[in-house]
Amino acid sequence: MKKLSNQITNEFEQRFGDDYLLIKSPGRVNLIGEHTDYNEGFVLPAAVNKNIVLAMKENGTQQARFYAVDKEESFETDISGDLEESGLGWPDYLLGVIDQLRKHGYEINGFDCVFGGDIPIGAGMSSSAALEGGVLFGLDQLRDLKIGPVEMAKIAQKAENDFVGVQCGIMDQFVSLNGKKGHALKLDCRSLDYEFYPFDQQDVHIVLCDTGVRRELATSEYNVRRQQCEQGVAALQEFDPDINSLRDVDLDFLILHQQDLDPIVFKRCKYVVEENRRVLQACNDLDRDDLASFGQRMFQSHIGLRNEYEVSCKELNTLVDIAWDIKGVIGSRMMGGGFGGCTINLVKDQQLETFVGQITDQYEEALGESVKIYKTKVSGGTHLLNSKDLAST
Ligand code: GLA
Repeated sequence: MKKLSNQITNEFEQRFGDDYLLIKSPGRVNLIGEHTDYNEGFVLPAAVNKNIVLAMKENGTQQARFYAVDKEESFETDISGDLEESGLGWPDYLLGVIDQLRKHGYEINGFDCVFGGDIPIGAGMSSSAALEGGVLFGLDQLRDLKIGPVEMAKIAQKAENDFVGVQCGIMDQFVSLNGKKGHALKLDCRSLDYEFYPFDQQDVHIVLCDTGVRRELATSEYNVRRQQCEQGVAALQEFDPDINSLRDVDLDFLILHQQDLDPIVFKRCKYVVEENRRVLQACNDLDRDDLASFGQRMFQSHIGLRNEYEVSCKELNTLVDIAWDIKGVIGSRMMGGGFGGCTINLVKDQQLETFVGQITDQYEEALGESVKIYKTKVSGGTHLLNSKDLAST
């Protein structure tokens, strides 16, 4: 982390000079509650110790000047008028935030920004949300906007929806901005009420296994799933006008109306309704310190994602099947949108190294591919790095 911060500060100083803000913005894991956020349901993610670090400073003009250290690419544009897509991809996350802030009535001046990080891109750990949250947090500080944590998450999500064009829910931006060290965050995606659950990592580690698979399909199929959920809601509203989202549907009611729904739409809805219930039950498990049940719910979540929501893939299923049989594994499932990226695994401390060895070997044996392993720690949300943090991180 110190190395990363140093790299960003050196680069900023060379390009733009002194007196900048330094911000750290984390990626996230999701323990349980997949594809529930855009159905106004519940999720249980946590911010982790993979980050984007940003150095930012106003420059007294109307130019925004960005430099992406990892890509070794720069981008510059006048921000006094309407903003347009950059054509480069990554600058859109920053431009989207400026665009949203303006639409919310905030005045934004030109600024310089250098950033880079160690969140693997496309692995389902929300590097995009970390970048959006980081630049938003920085502008909030630079302009003293006092936007507040919940509103910031909404603005960051809208930046991705409207400017980047990905119809994501609010989970990633919310937890990246508002996570708390050593805690998972239970979020009600309808009211945006949230609650922290201590997540002790002395005995249990959160280990991500990255398939390395990145598929375009992830975005198109994500949007198809959203539409299928909406179709389900529209059909069920005929029988109960109080239903506004799948959050309002209980399993018995859904099953009663199975014949009234398209069979694929029924499967999708069933998964979401059950997953919502699993999140609430998993939170009760944490209250009772019952990690064994918690882990079983993770497996059930995976089975639902694989068979009913159909967003998993061969590589993710192979990893979960292998993990299931390794001693010391409490739970395992695919994580994030699906079609590639990582599985999340809860592994007992004493068996950690055995787990890493076995999953690596067996995956290679099964598919002839190598898997990347990330051991994560639950960390705090987006914050300023002052000189003290710099010395110790
Ligand atoms: C992506 C989206 C999130 C959420 C997950 C699936 O990460 O950005 O909003 O929908 O997929 O749970």
